[in-house]
Amino acid sequence: MTKRINIGILISGSGTNMDAIINACEDGTINGEVIFVGSDNPEARGLEKAGKKGIPTFVVNYSEITRTFKNNPDSSLLPADFDLEDIRAKQSFFKENAESDKVISFLRTRAIAEALLIEKIKPYPYDLLVLAGFMRNLTPYFIDRVNTAPGKPRIMNIHPALLPAFPGTDGYGDTFRYGCKVGGCTVHFIDYGEDSGPIIGQRAFPITESDSIESIKKKGLALEWELYPECIRLFSEDRLHVVKMTYTLDSGKFVQRTVVKIAQVPIEK
Ligand code: GAR
Repeated sequence: MTKRINIGILISGSGTNMDAIINACEDGTINGEVIFVGSDNPEARGLEKAGKKGIPTFVVNYSEITRTFKNNPDSSLLPADFDLEDIRAKQSFFKENAESDKVISFLRTRAIAEALLIEKIKPYPYDLLVLAGFMRNLTPYFIDRVNTAPGKPRIMNIHPALLPAFPGTDGYGDTFRYGCKVGGCTVHFIDYGEDSGPIIGQRAFPITESDSIESIKKKGLALEWELYPECIRLFSEDRLHVVKMTYTLDSGKFVQRTVVKIAQVPIEK
């Protein structure tokens, strides 16, 4: 028997992945329920669709927060439990030589937005937080307050490329412009970097000479709508286990990688 899970979703735009997840809960593919949908963008089209389904929605307006904070760099706006040095040491979006002012300003502004996000999601008893086209990187400030059980990540993301290739905001566009013969999408757990967390599942499609950015987005999204519910179903069945695997090469060199192991379905007796 699997436990019914409560799912929270964050979106920034049209929310077609959100639709696929809600449908998969409704038709029983996922033993779960979407209990809230939040957005950084008040104009996100998915908010209205979720509202029509009776799902509670909320907005934390990141753009407004960034504007306000830039014009008013008042430290009293920062959450009381914000520890800049801790967050800065953990994050891996920025390289070590990144301009210090830029990094600090980014982490401080994000902590203000993320503290509000945490306040919004706190009342909901969610098991899994799903990023479905949420176009903001989450910093360690937020991640550590959601991933509270050691070794049990519970924030998932879908990315429109075969990671680790083409992280960032335009996965399909970058894949197409590079001239790749294959494109795809990836579902992964979130870690402290940009699109760098342990990979749960991937799907690929061929790219031909007659393709355009629009046609590969179409092919990719169709695969995303299958892959995301499938990965969430595996999570709901408690079959995803993040493990560190080590190998010794013939040369004697030691290699370590982080892998999401997918457990076999337990045999019902
Ligand atoms: C999807 O293609 C998703 O992979 C991508 O945004 C789109 C959202 O579509 N996500 C990212 O690029 C995250 N960095 P949707 O709002 O229709 O689900």
